[in-house]
Amino acid sequence: MDKLMITGGNRLDGEIRISGAKNSALPILAATLLADEAVTICNLPHLHDITTMIELFGRMGVQPVVGDKLTVEVNPTSITTLVAPYELVKTMRASILVLGPMVAHFGYAEVALPGGCAIGSRPVDLHIRGLEAMGAEITVEGGYIKARAPEGGLRGAHYSFDTISVTGTENILMAATLAKGQTVISNAAREPEVVDLAECLIAMGAQIRGQGTDTITIDGVERLHGARYAVMPDRIETGTFLVAGAATRGRVKLKDTDPSILEAVLLKLEEAGAQIDTGKTWVSLDMKGNRPRAVNLRTAPYPAFPTDMQAQFMAMNAVAEGTGTVIETVFENRFMHVQEMRRMGAQIQVEGNTAIVTGVEKLKGAPVMATDLRASASLVIAGLWADGDTLVDRIYHIDRGYECIEEKLQMLGASIRRVSA
Ligand code: EPU
Repeated sequence: MDKLMITGGNRLDGEIRISGAKNSALPILAATLLADEAVTICNLPHLHDITTMIELFGRMGVQPVVGDKLTVEVNPTSITTLVAPYELVKTMRASILVLGPMVAHFGYAEVALPGGCAIGSRPVDLHIRGLEAMGAEITVEGGYIKARAPEGGLRGAHYSFDTISVTGTENILMAATLAKGQTVISNAAREPEVVDLAECLIAMGAQIRGQGTDTITIDGVERLHGARYAVMPDRIETGTFLVAGAATRGRVKLKDTDPSILEAVLLKLEEAGAQIDTGKTWVSLDMKGNRPRAVNLRTAPYPAFPTDMQAQFMAMNAVAEGTGTVIETVFENRFMHVQEMRRMGAQIQVEGNTAIVTGVEKLKGAPVMATDLRASASLVIAGLWADGDTLVDRIYHIDRGYECIEEKLQMLGASIRRVSA
């Protein structure tokens, strides 16, 4: 199993390109199942989760054509099996995103019920209730969600999410594009990835308005056609490299990204003492060699501070000046990185969903274990500003969501390499 070996102490300094967004690419790939022609998706990140989605399509009889330049063409008309098997769903929860499109387009879907995961129990009850509101008959048997559309297909409905759910909103949004009549989703997720999905669906002929607000209105259409669509830049990858720059007192410039969707993160970095400059497609951070100041933060759905950036900021606080309080409100168990950071000398106290982090001048390198995707990114950041070597184990988590992380960090001057055990 591969590991990452990091020798800490180098200030990051340089320029890199940001990849397409994983959490936008996954629903957009799922959305191609709604079309009755080929859809081409560009700017896909080269990530394990994307390969898993392509493999899932292969199992269903849809053979995506992988082109050069991160492009995939999907023609769903060859679908033969309306089943997403457990062996793939258990490796990637986002497989649940094929549920809405399959029921809406083909009238039936079987998707393995995802189990709990390292960051929380993560139920999908709200996805199921939303589809039921549109007339689907749903049972859970043998660990599978079995969903059948009524005679004549799904019907538009008014559906209000009890809790804001990103993939839940995406599933209902996709299903509603082919439903009869109008669907109104209230308490919808406002994440930029939901907006990106909506823009792709519109390019395929869907009638959607209100994306990016908490009320999305969809007027169902008879069919969706082929389109060519480029996935937006990854705001979490962008944020992760910015925080790595801040923790190492460095200077980084990130290209092919979109700073306008990173406001909460950029404000916290400025509070930490970073000079942030932005253009339409780039963002740069300069610590001018200074140690960051610890920041307080509280995660919540967009446009508030993203839970997917919580662990990385915890790593920055661990080497910052002062004490910062980190409150996690989205997932109930997203502090798994704390124990590992403590092994590197971090001073962190956890009380319920609150972590109080008092910065130390430098962490100490140690062997650590990644527990989930963003936790593994935080351990890499911790290793970059630690004395000596840090060996991060179980980096398959990191390969699910960060394209070429070690190459990109090397380009910024970090001492990091992949080692095969
Ligand atoms: N929830 C329910 N019932 C549901 C759905 C969600 O109770 O039916 C709860 C969850 O348990 C959680 C909260 O609602 O407490 C929010 O979860 P959400 O459904 O928004 O999460 P998700 O859609 O499963 C996506 C991202 C996550 C990101 C969260 C929150 C994708 C593929 N995944 O997950 O990304 O953390 O939104 O922003 O888009 C990551 O990239 O590392 C990652 C975990």
